[in-house]
Amino acid sequence: MKIAILPGDGIGPEIVEQAVNVLNRLGESFEMESAPVGGAGYAAHGHPLPEATLKLAQDADAILFGAVGDWKYDTLERALRPEQAILGLRKNLNLFANLRPAILYPELAGASTLKPEVVSGLDILLVRELTGDIYFGQPRGVRIAPDGPFKGQREGFDTMRYAEGEIRRIAHVAFQAAQKRSKRLTSVDKANVLETFQFWKEIVTDVHKEYPDVELDHMYVDNAAMQLVKAPKRFDVVVTGNMFGDILSDQAAMLTGSIGMLPSASLDANNKGLYEPSHGSAPDIAGKGIANPLATILSAAMMLRYSLNKAEQADRIEAAVKKVLAQGLRTADIYEAGTTKVGTKEMGEAVVAALG
Ligand code: IPM
Ligand code: MG
Repeated sequence: MKIAILPGDGIGPEIVEQAVNVLNRLGESFEMESAPVGGAGYAAHGHPLPEATLKLAQDADAILFGAVGDWKYDTLERALRPEQAILGLRKNLNLFANLRPAILYPELAGASTLKPEVVSGLDILLVRELTGDIYFGQPRGVRIAPDGPFKGQREGFDTMRYAEGEIRRIAHVAFQAAQKRSKRLTSVDKANVLETFQFWKEIVTDVHKEYPDVELDHMYVDNAAMQLVKAPKRFDVVVTGNMFGDILSDQAAMLTGSIGMLPSASLDANNKGLYEPSHGSAPDIAGKGIANPLATILSAAMMLRYSLNKAEQADRIEAAVKKVLAQGLRTADIYEAGTTKVGTKEMGEAVVAALG
């Protein structure tokens, strides 16, 4: 089995290194090959997603991705910015299903900004559609307004759209995920205002007929944002579009107080996937050896479970992470008085040791 390793920018390389060490300790024979992506891709080959990197990702069975982005690339034209690498990988590899768990580890209950009784035991799975919506809809651009009260002025515009098949396939992923959990699914939309999401609601309701054992409810996105902080434990699996999912997944992640702990998976129709931590490249702490590698290590566990068919190995890694937390080891982002502060490398080594 071949894994493409794309460390990227900022803290990406240091956290990915720890996840690779963990993978190497499992006693499996994975073939791993790395390539530059994001700002590193631009620096090496003049493009955030160099052709050779895309090819490596296409040929691999799974991709382990660090993070992309650095202030020094912020002034580049949009097509050359680091973010285009992740958007290009999603689109080129058809990674339409993004799974973002938000789990509050009992040991880290104090890390949330919300009251412990509101968040303790939190375990939400957000299923975000990842290759459609206003992110990719055409046409888009800046033009002279052809009509309306500002006719003749320059205007920016994007297009929100979802095809039936696009909604159906993400709905199936979400219903099936719900079947494996507590059998409750919330579909988040803006059907009261947007045609696209009225249609979304209609299609999700239709797909529901194939999953009578799952309880489905619909919620407007503004209400969902409110409920996520008011009573987050009412949610189990949540499915939504690309744009709303981008926003709600950051919000859901932060409920746990420790975005440095949360993995994610982006899957195609055959469960080939790209796995990355939910957090970004954090250029302010890059190279300092203090970043939390656990989200990336847990992303490697998701990779074993979803793409490489090695659920027992995924369980081993997750158990090892729980063990180091129970031992009181904490990187700076999740540190509290009475625990032991460790760096990136020490945390990675502790997980390797805990694998047994
Ligand atoms: C995410 C990120 C990306 C997105 C950016 C980096 C393009 O915010 O994965 O949520 O908007 O999807
Ligand atoms: Mg985001």
